[in-house]
Amino acid sequence: MKSFLDDYPRAKDEVLKAAEVAGYLWQNGWAERNGGNITVNITEHVNLERVWRMQPIGPVTEIGMTLPHIARGVFFCKGTGRRMRDLARWPMDNGSVIRILPDGAHYEMIADNPVRPTSELPSHLAIHDDLIARGSTYRVAIHTHPTELVAMSHNPAFLKPDVLTRLLWSMIPETRAFCPKGLGIIPYEMPSSVKLAEETVKGLQEHDVVLWEKHGVVAIGNDAPEAFDQIDVLVKAAQIYQDARSMGFIPEGMTDAAMDELKEAFHL
Ligand code: 13P
Ligand code: ZN
Repeated sequence: MKSFLDDYPRAKDEVLKAAEVAGYLWQNGWAERNGGNITVNITEHVNLERVWRMQPIGPVTEIGMTLPHIARGVFFCKGTGRRMRDLARWPMDNGSVIRILPDGAHYEMIADNPVRPTSELPSHLAIHDDLIARGSTYRVAIHTHPTELVAMSHNPAFLKPDVLTRLLWSMIPETRAFCPKGLGIIPYEMPSSVKLAEETVKGLQEHDVVLWEKHGVVAIGNDAPEAFDQIDVLVKAAQIYQDARSMGFIPEGMTDAAMDELKEAFHL
């Protein structure tokens, strides 16, 4: 069967990158059952006139928020209840392409199959709306459930501003270098809620990755591998911390001076 993506090679590339990353999320143990979601803004890679001539394949559905900067935009979204490990092999059977109606408050599915988008759609679309509003080049948002970081979010001491960022930065130089904006903390909110979406948008204005307390992380990037790398680097630092603790000692951590030196060297 012909896919919508066959007409748009650049959109297809981006969706295939998301599928590749979906496999990594599963392999890393961050995507139990249907855990996590990925969305890709493919608006720039499709012919909008043709997109708007297409017949929808599902009902007009409310987003729950009004998002003017992505009105008329086109997105690939993981389906709700769908598995990352399945999306990795069959992206267009476990996700769908949606278009945002001109009012910025509703969407409809247009291809390939009527796979209802992720329950975290409000967060994803609110993030994309803010990225466009800010003139960002980022086009991908990933939510996943990395075990070590979720575990750390159960310690109230780590949820105070910058505590976890400094701890993770101090575990290995790469974290300071490649996650310069650190990890934002979003206090617990109901999954899929508009409140969670609003807080996430604020957090991602200051950071490339945020931690949803007792739930997971959200990362953004130009493409899916880039967003994935940000999470991967933070998880590596969390694993070093956890391994040291399970060996029975509290890791010393790099000094502030060593971290400042990195900041200078990498022009952060
Ligand atoms: P979906 O299957 O609806 O994408 O939900 C997964 C999830 O992680 C919710 O936070
Ligand atoms: Zn989740």
